[in-house]
Amino acid sequence: MSKMFDNATILITGGTGSWGQELTRQLLAKYAPREIRIYSRGEMKQVDMRLKFNNPKLKFIIGDVRDKQRLLTSCRGVDYVFHMAALKHVPVCEENPEEAILTNIIGTENVVFACIENNVKKMIDVSTDKAVDPLNLYGVTKACGEKITIAANQKATNTVFSCVRGGNVMGSRGSIIPLFRKQLATTNVLTVTDERMTRFIFSLQDAIGLVLKSAEDSVGGEIFVMKMPSSTVMDIVTCMKEELGNSKTRTDMIGIRYGEKLDEVLVSKHEGMDRIVDDGDFYIILPFLDIEKSRKHYASKKVISIGEFNSRNTKVLNKEEVRKLLKKNGFLDPIVKEKVPEVYFN
Ligand SMILES: NC(=O)c1ccc[n+]([C@@H]2O[C@H](COP(=O)([O-])OP(=O)(O)OC[C@H]3O[C@@H](n4cnc5c(N)ncnc54)[C@H](OP(=O)(O)O)[C@@H]3O)[C@@H](O)[C@H]2O)c1
Repeated sequence: MSKMFDNATILITGGTGSWGQELTRQLLAKYAPREIRIYSRGEMKQVDMRLKFNNPKLKFIIGDVRDKQRLLTSCRGVDYVFHMAALKHVPVCEENPEEAILTNIIGTENVVFACIENNVKKMIDVSTDKAVDPLNLYGVTKACGEKITIAANQKATNTVFSCVRGGNVMGSRGSIIPLFRKQLATTNVLTVTDERMTRFIFSLQDAIGLVLKSAEDSVGGEIFVMKMPSSTVMDIVTCMKEELGNSKTRTDMIGIRYGEKLDEVLVSKHEGMDRIVDDGDFYIILPFLDIEKSRKHYASKKVISIGEFNSRNTKVLNKEEVRKLLKKNGFLDPIVKEKVPEVYFN
């Protein structure tokens, strides 16, 4: 295993979120970092995380990514930054566009600025499939975040800036698996927007493994796209019904909602033309901009066209593979009613 993060000081914006906490866990388990700074706004989430991890290497900073000065001082002495802070609920961003723009776009610009000013070695912006041919403001702001990050390579001499793009992971708030668990525990009716739908199906643990790998491999200017497998929504429904439902469990078709796509897309048809390097775990999208370090590094690599990469043309797991994956990640465990979390649509 590489020692890239050994003895390093790392700052994670949005470190108290689900991706941030798993990243913290893996950094501590796989490397020997000197310090991990968790940068976020909410005091209670930080208190809870401090108690949960109980590790003196973690330092907690209350701060907003909108606050340029706070980021500037927080990044002093930092080697690596993972930028995960975001407003990410589709309807929330839609109803509060100014706020989404301030956090997701201006916030990313501030993180980039703080990295350049502090000679941070690498900054990884964590992005989403929603940024691809965006249908909603959340996706638009994340696409802008990617552009700001990639372009920063032309301004910086000492910092490498790259993005990693993944789809929703299993069980993330607002995704279908926790929604189905909640419905099985309450109404016993599973609501499916469209039976033709496919969804990426990947664990948070695997996604964070790939975030770390992208950070290790990046030279600047790439978008690392996780090669996630997928499932038809009906296979997920069937497995959950068979394992957790009863003879009265029903499925209702409710129609596709605003901002939803039938298939999730991780590489658009235009991005997928002539600029892709297949790196096993990732499709790497090379930058449109001329970024010297990237141009030199990838000069000897085979560049291919893949067209659109989506949850229909990726590896689609069969029903038994889906069942196995759901089981392995605890989503078929018996439902304890009090423990079913609130779900939000994102
Ligand atoms: N969830 C997924 O499946 C998924 C898939 C692909 C990509 N992503 C991306 O991964 C990142 C993390 O997602 P997640 O699911 O871990 O989100 P999450 O659980 O909602 O966590 C968001 C984090 O950002 C912090 N935050 C929000 N606004 C902030 C601000 N203005 N300044 C500083 N911190 C702020 C939150 O803490 P406070 O509210 O206390 O500040 C929290 O720590 C996001 O950028 C998201 O777009 C997620």
